[in-house]
Amino acid sequence: MTTPFEYAEQHASRFEEELCDWLRIPSVSADDAHRDDVRRAAVWVAQQFEQLGLQVEQIETPGHPIVLAEWLGAPGAPTALVYGHYDVQPPDPLDLWQTPPFEPTRRDGNIYARGATDDKGQAFTHIKSVEAWLRTENRLPINVRFLIEGEEEIGSEHLFAYIADHRDRLRSDVAVISDTSQFAPGVPAITYGLRGICYYELRLQGPSQDLHSGSFGGAITNPANVLATMLAALVDDHGRIQVPGFYDDVEPPTDEERRQLAALPFDQSAFFSEVGVDGGTGEEGYTTLERRWIRPSYDVNGLWGGYQGQGAKTVLPSKAGAKFSFRLVPRQNPAKITAALRKMLESICPPGIRMQLIDFHGAPGVVVPLDSPFISAAATAIEKGFGRRPVFIREGGSIPVVSVFHEELGLDTLLLGWGQSDDNMHAPNEKFSLADFHRGILASAHLWEELRRLGTSG
Ligand code: BES
Ligand code: MN
Ligand code: MN
Repeated sequence: MTTPFEYAEQHASRFEEELCDWLRIPSVSADDAHRDDVRRAAVWVAQQFEQLGLQVEQIETPGHPIVLAEWLGAPGAPTALVYGHYDVQPPDPLDLWQTPPFEPTRRDGNIYARGATDDKGQAFTHIKSVEAWLRTENRLPINVRFLIEGEEEIGSEHLFAYIADHRDRLRSDVAVISDTSQFAPGVPAITYGLRGICYYELRLQGPSQDLHSGSFGGAITNPANVLATMLAALVDDHGRIQVPGFYDDVEPPTDEERRQLAALPFDQSAFFSEVGVDGGTGEEGYTTLERRWIRPSYDVNGLWGGYQGQGAKTVLPSKAGAKFSFRLVPRQNPAKITAALRKMLESICPPGIRMQLIDFHGAPGVVVPLDSPFISAAATAIEKGFGRRPVFIREGGSIPVVSVFHEELGLDTLLLGWGQSDDNMHAPNEKFSLADFHRGILASAHLWEELRRLGTSG
C-alpha cells in the first residue's frame, strides 16, 4: 500500500509540470487586457478539482470568477476552508526578468515565473496533498472546502460579497492559507498577524494648461510642488504619520511580544544588503521587524507630473498626482482613516489647486490567537513536512480575506507560508523553491491528519 506521503514523492515531477501549466497562464487581475487569461486560470484549477472528484462550482462575479471545490466525505470530522488566489501581479518591468515571467523555468532548485510563490505555487500544494490522499486512501481525514479567487491582488471585492451572502454554505471550522513566507531558509514559520491596507490616488489640478514657468512661476500655484508638500506633510521627521487620529486605535505592543520578535534570528544587515541599501529609516523607537510587522507605515507607490523627457523644459505643469498607501495594524479602521485623511488633505490644499482623492481598496490588519489547538496541529504538520518546528512571526503584507473569514464566518486562519522572503513577490524573477513546494505538499498532507485529531467544534 502506498501512503499519501510516498505518493507525493513518487509524483513530484508531474506535480511540477502541472504547476508550470498553471503558471503559463498570464492571469493578471489588474489588467483588463488579461481578462480572458484570468478566466482560463480559473477554469484550469476547476478542472484540477474535477479530476480529483471534488464537487466544483465556478462562481461568476462582475469581476473574476471564484472557484469553490468541496470534498465533504468525513462527517463528524472538522472542515478546513482552504483559500488561495490564482490571480497574479503585473509582471513589469519585463526587461529585468532573466527568463520570461510566463515561461516557467527551473533553475538552481527554484521555479521562476510570475505567480510561482504568490500564490499559484503555494495554493497548489494543498491541491496536490488532497490528490495524494484521494489516490491512495480514497478519502481525506477531514472535510476540505477550497475557495480559490482571482481578485486578491486587486482587493478581493467580489469575494467579500460572495462570502457575506453564503455564510451558511461556507460554514467551516478553520481557514488555511499558504500565501506568506517562512522566516528564513530552513526556518519554517506560522504567521499570526498581517497588516491591513488603505490605498489611494491623489490628483491635483492647477492651471487649465501647462504654462511657461518663467512667465507664470511664483504667482501660479504649481501642482507638482503642492503634491510634494502634501505627500511630505503626511509623515514627520520621527516617522510618525500625521493624519489626525491615525494612531488612536493602534495598540502598543506588549513587552512579551517585543521580546519574542527580538528573539527571532533576524540578520538586520543582511536584510538591508539583500535589497541593496546601506541602512533604513522608520518610526523612531521601533526595531526593523517591529516597523515591518506591528507598526503602521506610509509609502508613496508612484507619482507623476510635469516634464519627464530628455533635457530641461521650463514648464509649470497643469496636473500632478500620486498613488500612496498606508499599511495598518489590527483595530485601525480603514474607513475612519480615509475620512480623516481626506479632511486633512483638503485643509492643506492651497488656493489655485483642485484636489481629488480616490479611495481604492482597504482591509484591516489581523492577528490570530496563538493558543488555539489549530495552531498546535499546524505546528506538528509543519514539523513533519519541513523537519523543523515553526517559529511564530507576523508579516507586513496583507491578505484582505482573512478579516472577512473572521467577521463573517467566525473563523481563525492558519497562515502557513511555504515561500522565502527573497522569492521576489511582486518583483521581477519571482521564484519558488522546488524543495519548499514539495515540503509544503507533505506538510499539507500531514495537516489534514493532524486536524482530524482535534475533532469538530460543532
Ligand atoms: N501574498 C501577498 C501577501 C503577503 C505579502 C504576505 C508579503 C506576506 C508578505 C498577497 O498576494 C498580496 O500581495 N497582498 C496585497 C494585498 C492588497 C493588494 C490588497 C498586498 O499586501 O499588497
Ligand atoms: Mn498572495
Ligand atoms: Mn501578492
